[in-house]
Amino acid sequence: MRVVCVTGCLGFMGSHFTRACLQRGWQVWGVDTMTYAARPELLDEFRQSASFKFTEADIVTMDHLYDVDAVFNFAAETHVDNSIVDSSRFSWANIMGVENLLELIRGKRNYEMPLLVQVSTDEVYGDVLDGKHTEEHPLHPSNPYSASKASADMLILGWHRTHNVPYLIIRPTNNYGIGQYPEKLIPKAVKYLSLRKKIPLHGKGLYVRNWLHAEDTAAAIFHILERGQRNRVYNVSGNYEATNREVIEKVLRCYFGKRVKLNLHVQFNYVRMGEDVRYSLDDTRLRRLGWKNARRFDDEIKAIVEYYRDRFIW
Ligand SMILES: NC(=O)c1ccc[n+]([C@@H]2O[C@H](COP(=O)([O-])OP(=O)(O)OC[C@H]3O[C@@H](n4cnc5c(N)ncnc54)[C@H](O)[C@@H]3O)[C@@H](O)[C@H]2O)c1
Repeated sequence: MRVVCVTGCLGFMGSHFTRACLQRGWQVWGVDTMTYAARPELLDEFRQSASFKFTEADIVTMDHLYDVDAVFNFAAETHVDNSIVDSSRFSWANIMGVENLLELIRGKRNYEMPLLVQVSTDEVYGDVLDGKHTEEHPLHPSNPYSASKASADMLILGWHRTHNVPYLIIRPTNNYGIGQYPEKLIPKAVKYLSLRKKIPLHGKGLYVRNWLHAEDTAAAIFHILERGQRNRVYNVSGNYEATNREVIEKVLRCYFGKRVKLNLHVQFNYVRMGEDVRYSLDDTRLRRLGWKNARRFDDEIKAIVEYYRDRFIW
């Protein structure tokens, strides 16, 4: 695997993956339409490598795919709140974008069809109060964002069966790390603290998420490519399951350098329709291939909070 296309290369997870591909000496063709969530400043970093080429394009309207070994699709609209206000961008990018990528791939001769690696999400399964979702569980999305991601997964299964398009579907849990847009919990909390505002938390902050470092997600994808089977779904789980309240307590401790009262900095009872209580994945299929998380939330969170505290992100 040497010559690859990474869509959404200027977004949070796509940029971590692009950096990791370049470090491996791969040729990377990055594609991004540069929505508000993109970080165009990363182009300076990536372009220092002669192996990086960039096209500003929308995956829905892209009409050419260079000959690549694989297309890693990180491009998507990703913020659940936005999807509740207006789902049209989500159907556009997350469903029609994948359909267009599938069509571009099937337009290649059979022996030249690149592998489509679709970055899906744990949210396609819906929530689970006890236990964990395996790859065999049915999809039960609860909001327009996760419904659009589940739809894309279905399209891929259909294009594989009918047109033989090779695929991998990767379903990671909540990612954290450097470079996430401050609409997501951790950077948003730091931004609110910097603005001396209270952090809005859904409900009583008791919703549970599983946290996976973005570099661990990239490593898991490489591991699956090297040791996994083609045309399969792989869950990828983090090693830190916590309520949003617990996460914010850690953010506060890192931000202030001491324990502070949660109520002074958090506004509870913010309501989001379709809110999922708990997401949790069983990723035994991946772990049996010998993969494990390299990053621990407690070791990473201080540097991440400091990173967001030290720079204002619009
Ligand atoms: N962040 C998470 O916690 C998480 C967890 C599991 C799965 N995922 C999935 O991983 C993928 C990446 O998530 P992220 O958090 O990095 O997203 P992000 O919002 O940070 O970045 C998305 C990137 O895609 C680009 N983009 C959006 N629509 C596009 C289009 N139509 N054509 C080309 N580029 C487009 C944006 O400009 C942006 O650079 C998404 O598919 C998401 O569903 C994210």
